[in-house]
Amino acid sequence: MPHRPYIVGNWKMNGTRASLAEARAIDRGAARNPGVNVGIAPPATLLAPMAEAVETISLGGQDCHAQASGAFTGDISAAMLADAGASFVIVGHSERRLLHGETNEMVKAKAAAALAAGLGAIVCVGETEAERDAGKAESVVSAQLAGSLPDDAGTPGQVTVAYEPVWAIGTGRVPSAVDVSTMHRAIRATLEGRYGAANAGMRILYGGSVNAGNAAELLHCDEVGGALVGGASLTADSFLTIVSAAAPSTD
Ligand code: 13P
Repeated sequence: MPHRPYIVGNWKMNGTRASLAEARAIDRGAARNPGVNVGIAPPATLLAPMAEAVETISLGGQDCHAQASGAFTGDISAAMLADAGASFVIVGHSERRLLHGETNEMVKAKAAAALAAGLGAIVCVGETEAERDAGKAESVVSAQLAGSLPDDAGTPGQVTVAYEPVWAIGTGRVPSAVDVSTMHRAIRATLEGRYGAANAGMRILYGGSVNAGNAAELLHCDEVGGALVGGASLTADSFLTIVSAAAPSTD
């Protein structure tokens, strides 16, 4: 991993103020692992109180609107996330694509809005099981990247790609190390072609059933610069084991 590994917890629609104690415990653990860049994307309702509660970790939104403000009931802009304490936002998560009908075009607009507001953007891509079974995993991901990535990469490291095979999310199933490496190398080649030198600062995260037991193997696959963790990020115990697995070895 050429850069400081990036381990991000996506809390999805989980957590109330009672969960701030868990976030504080994660924050203390992150401080003990300075070689790892740790973030949490809590529900938007927890961003501001969590920003008050933590010192080391970065905080992010799970989605943002493409517009800066306006008549969009229920939506949250990138600037609002920043105002509440976020420094990054996840866009194009498969749950947004599948359950909210988000298209590549929408995801691209959201990513651009995030960058314009000064946030990092974690752009998610990943194939379904049927697509993988049909031998289309790489072409599907490549098309998602082509359609979802912002034209301008912003400042170094501002764009991150998360490869999350849909069939691995919340299922306990993960691709083989060979398949993860193959896909991540293909994503790197796409980023190189798309952004040239600016691609060098971009991390590619793996996501989908990352847990304390499999994190070390997944994080050592080619071009894996960190992990986007769902269920296992909800408790400090399991999340910090993953953070430790990402820590550069000192020997
Ligand atoms: P799980 O780690 O629960 O499989 O979720 C992965 C994910 O969707 C993170 O964004």
